Amino acid sequence: MSAEIISGTKMRQEILDELKKEVDEMKAKTGKVPGLVTILVGETPASVSYVTLKIKTAKSLGFHEIQDTQSVDITEEDLLALIEKYNTDPEIHGILIQLPLPKHIDDNKVLNAINPDKDVDGFHPVNVGRIMIGGDEAIFPPCTPAGIQEMIVRSGTETSGAEVVVVGRSNIVGKPIAIMMAQKGVGANSTVTIVHTRTKDLAGHCKRADILIVAAGVPDLVKPEWIKPGSTVIDVGVNRVGMNEKTGKAILKGDVDFEAAKEICGKITPVPGGVGPMTITMLMKNTVKSAWKHFGGK
Ligand code: GUN
Repeated sequence: MSAEIISGTKMRQEILDELKKEVDEMKAKTGKVPGLVTILVGETPASVSYVTLKIKTAKSLGFHEIQDTQSVDITEEDLLALIEKYNTDPEIHGILIQLPLPKHIDDNKVLNAINPDKDVDGFHPVNVGRIMIGGDEAIFPPCTPAGIQEMIVRSGTETSGAEVVVVGRSNIVGKPIAIMMAQKGVGANSTVTIVHTRTKDLAGHCKRADILIVAAGVPDLVKPEWIKPGSTVIDVGVNRVGMNEKTGKAILKGDVDFEAAKEICGKITPVPGGVGPMTITMLMKNTVKSAWKHFGGK
């Protein structure tokens, strides 16, 4: 039997509907709305398109939103001063610096300058530490791992005691999702293994996974024979493998051989339309959470 497809596109709409209600409630209660600024340095097409989508989503929820585009030549000092301006702006609850930054700017220095209580991307070391501590401390889970966990929970997959195998150890996906799944709490309590390029028996580990999370950036890395029957497979890979000549759009492929895998696992996320749509949704969720915190709670 073919696996159930976990649609990120459908889940995004469900969550945005919930958030819209929350924003309306916030407005009625406090007279205020969440404020999000996205700072873009230069106009790299991929970054422009991400930021445009973030702002469009924020607008659809009724946020106060600012798209602050700066010249590619901005100095590090001026960028740090701009961040400080938003750090102290009471109408702004979320600050996002679109990455990558130009080479003359130190990414870490810039990310570390964001007020951790407005760091809705969850990239500041203070928030990385808060994720490690878990519980109520973990206020801003990074958006892609948060989206992955939300998909696992909303698809009805049991996580408590489950064998979770994470393929990949990046700071943005692999490491945080591994920690999040191992924490005490709902949608967690799992037994987690992280595997990577130096792992000796990649296939052997994957075969044990009740929940397999793949964020390796290698198209079709995971073969159907690596998948445990009935398991849940979350494919985070977004690999451009060619161009559709008719539409001019990139052809995208995940890290899992989807067509073969869906005949073995129980649930699977597609690429595109899986984890991708969840990332911006979680950014909105973090911004709403931040606004409530700044207003003293719900
Ligand atoms: N560039 C690509 N993805 C992201 C993201 O999730 N956050 C930020 N800040 N920049 C990105």
